[in-house]
Amino acid sequence: MTEQTLSNLLHENRRFEPPAELAANANVKADAYDEAGADREAFWAKAADRLSWAQRWDRVLDDDNPPFFKWFTGGKLNAAYNCVDRHVEAGNGDRVALHWVGEPVSDQGAESRDLTYAQLKDEVSQAANALSSLGVATGDRVAIYMPMIPEAIVTMLACARLGAPHTVVFGGFSAEALASRIEDCGAKVVVTADGGYRRGAPSALKPAVDEARSIAAGAGHTVEKVLVVRRTGQDVAWEDGVDVWWHDAVATASTEHTPEAFDAEHPLYVMYTSGTTGKPKGILHTTGGYLTQAAFTHWEVFDLKPETDVYWCTADIGWVTGHSYIVYGPLANGATQVLYEGTPDYPERGRWWRIIEEKKVTLFYTAPTAIRSFMKQGHDIPDQHDLSSLRILGSVGEPINPEAYVWYRHVIGGDRTPVVDTWWQTETGAMMISPLPGVTHAKPGSAMNPLPGVTADVVDDEGHPVPNGSGGYLVLTQPWPSMLRTIWGDDQRYIDTYWARFRDANGGQGYYFAGDGAKKDEDGDLWVLGRVDDVMNVSGHRLSTTEIESALVSHPYVAEAAVVGATDADTGQAVVAYVILREGAPESCEKELSDHVRTQIGPIAKPKRIMIVPELPKTRSGKIMRRLLRDLAEGRGVGDTTTLADSSIMELIAAGKAASTED
Ligand code: WT7
Repeated sequence: MTEQTLSNLLHENRRFEPPAELAANANVKADAYDEAGADREAFWAKAADRLSWAQRWDRVLDDDNPPFFKWFTGGKLNAAYNCVDRHVEAGNGDRVALHWVGEPVSDQGAESRDLTYAQLKDEVSQAANALSSLGVATGDRVAIYMPMIPEAIVTMLACARLGAPHTVVFGGFSAEALASRIEDCGAKVVVTADGGYRRGAPSALKPAVDEARSIAAGAGHTVEKVLVVRRTGQDVAWEDGVDVWWHDAVATASTEHTPEAFDAEHPLYVMYTSGTTGKPKGILHTTGGYLTQAAFTHWEVFDLKPETDVYWCTADIGWVTGHSYIVYGPLANGATQVLYEGTPDYPERGRWWRIIEEKKVTLFYTAPTAIRSFMKQGHDIPDQHDLSSLRILGSVGEPINPEAYVWYRHVIGGDRTPVVDTWWQTETGAMMISPLPGVTHAKPGSAMNPLPGVTADVVDDEGHPVPNGSGGYLVLTQPWPSMLRTIWGDDQRYIDTYWARFRDANGGQGYYFAGDGAKKDEDGDLWVLGRVDDVMNVSGHRLSTTEIESALVSHPYVAEAAVVGATDADTGQAVVAYVILREGAPESCEKELSDHVRTQIGPIAKPKRIMIVPELPKTRSGKIMRRLLRDLAEGRGVGDTTTLADSSIMELIAAGKAASTED
């Protein structure tokens, strides 16, 4: 964070009160803070009671073995039953669950398909039966690598129905990234599609699965079956005995499937996220606590009225936002939602606003990076659409700067809609810090306060709470239901990454450290300032510096590399790489190197700038001083270089050649 941003925040004095009608009818009112404060466990037990349990829990929070907390132990439930069947049983089978909108638009209009809860129940049952007959049993892992089509959600729910944890890998990731995730969690089956539509053109997925399968085989892991949805009609290579078409296996399966109730702590899914080492972390979420908090926060923060609201979250199901706020939260609540396959600006810049107008979307959830890109285009395009159905706007993924917040509220929300700036992480599973739309007098740029039942603080290096008006590290001071349970296969890394930084006085479990810096303003409201570790946030996607450095160094031209996230007006942060070339490497190889990162990790990790430098700034112990490189990348002068082994190096670097690799 730059000093500039800090001082901007300090002087922000705009306030937005909740609309009176919303406040009067809100699902959650101000008394919820007192209620949760008085008895946190009773508060979460009440939230868990919004779900259907096959067997009630004995204990709300089991904290016998910190930091391995358990929630609702002894309880049994089925997540898919909660997201689908129970709504049908309650007489809401005809309610639309998904208004799916495909990217292609023809003379007849956009490709689209509505699925009611009754239809969703049939399809999830068919998929569960098909996966069973492909050999998937309770506890087996299934990897999902799919475009944004209803079958992706159907597959996730079918896995949940069987108690087979899924790991969804973002469709933009490369075969190598897919393979490493398949190997790490030992996925037995992969569900994919021939391809998806991206900016009007079919974009293949199956070839990456084929390649990932052979990479995994090389490492000794066998993927037994690949289930393939025909979406684009692209040619696909086919291996009999392994590859199976969805329309052969799923469409022909029975629509009857009896869900089994699983333990509250049964694994629901593994979601990979970047860490500070090159190896991605498999964040494990379990069933009861996760579903409780995902569903409750969705109902609370979006004030969901399932009979009348139309909700739309623009995230991809390959990220945790898609898991908690497209699949599990909204469906557990019986919501009607839009699911859109494509890009925001295809075939025209107003595509999103057209969808909001056509589907009469009332609740809209997106990321600051998207808002900033629309801001750049001006208000003319959204102004051509009737957006008056909107009643609440949400933001997630990175800090939303006050300008973007006010633009969002004014141009998209017509100054009627509260904006909820929701802070959470892959690890937290659900929203943790956010305004309540019917309660909070919101400030643009601030996530405001921990939600009822959540306890957070900002602490200094020693773990002491900082006073109002000061900044420090954001910590969560007590366990919460949807918290990660561990890192898949690596309990020690779970302890070291999240619980070692702020231990209690006896060296035991203290606070959960989120990795973010934050500030308490004069009123005690929270401003999240971004990540303090060597992880960056590009367009709301978390990327690790080390992963990209490893990719660069794997290229024969590269001797050494250091990567930093530099503040970027469009994407929040942008990847900037400093590279030392090997002798004999061609001089202008920046483009080749950035393409290499693209194939190794994926397009979002591709450096925006690559600087070829003669040296890297290192401390005497050999640790690269990324702070200095960030200063340089963000156009600040080179500050304190006293801890460098060789203080003249920064001048050498600053004078060095910088090359842009922007498309
Ligand atoms: C990191 C988590 C939450 C799902 C999407 C990203 C940043 C997230 C906010 C916000 C400021 C935010 C944090 C956090 N972040 N939301 N409202 N204000 N920063 O999930 O990939 O796990 O990233 O995103 O830095 O630690 P993720």
